[in-house]
Amino acid sequence: MPKRPPRNALSFKRRLLRWFRQDGRDLPWRRTHDPYRVLVSEFMLQQTQVVRVRQYYGRFLERFPTIDDLADARPHQVREAWQGLGYYRRAANLHRLARIVVREHDGTVPDDPGTLETLPGIGRYTAGAVATFAYQKRAAAVDTNVARVLTRGFGLNHRSAMTGGHTSVPGRTVWELATRILPRRPVVAWEFNQALMDLGARVCTARRPKCGECPVRPACRSGRRT
Ligand code: ADE
Repeated sequence: MPKRPPRNALSFKRRLLRWFRQDGRDLPWRRTHDPYRVLVSEFMLQQTQVVRVRQYYGRFLERFPTIDDLADARPHQVREAWQGLGYYRRAANLHRLARIVVREHDGTVPDDPGTLETLPGIGRYTAGAVATFAYQKRAAAVDTNVARVLTRGFGLNHRSAMTGGHTSVPGRTVWELATRILPRRPVVAWEFNQALMDLGARVCTARRPKCGECPVRPACRSGRRT
């Protein structure tokens, strides 16, 4: 992995960070580093849009303010609090996770991506997201949006960046790049990871990317062509 970052990486990062600091969305889960709260947001965001999650996030946390409260709940209570978000499997996994964390980790959400990945409902992306967003570890968090931004920004071959057969699953190439270009300071890595998500959701969208208003366009490998 000691490959050097691509030549446009520095300019890409500077532009992205400047934009995010001025114009990043103020989302409730960006105002906290509480690992439980970050986890709840990431589970909700796995299959649900930000606008919708915003409506349910606060309500769920009022009902279950701590991981202990969630661990103590009955399954039907968790299901009730999740109502409106759908995909209840996520709620069931989160509930199981809470019980495991309370029982086996003294109630503390692990900070290491490898350990996080052993918990129910946590894949590589969510493990990275909790490590960076809650614990400010220098970890990458590549979901489909982030993979798209990086694939375009750094001119990766889409098929080789994504895992063979599942073209929506980020593969090794894009994870390696995401890790290589992470800012060194953990606080800045937090901002950078959030900023990639914002750009993917608002500007570098899957269909009809808004290249004309993109803050990183001068540093993008494909912006001019899209
Ligand atoms: N999707 C997943 N995590 C997110 C976050 N922290 N902000 C916005 N969208 C997200």
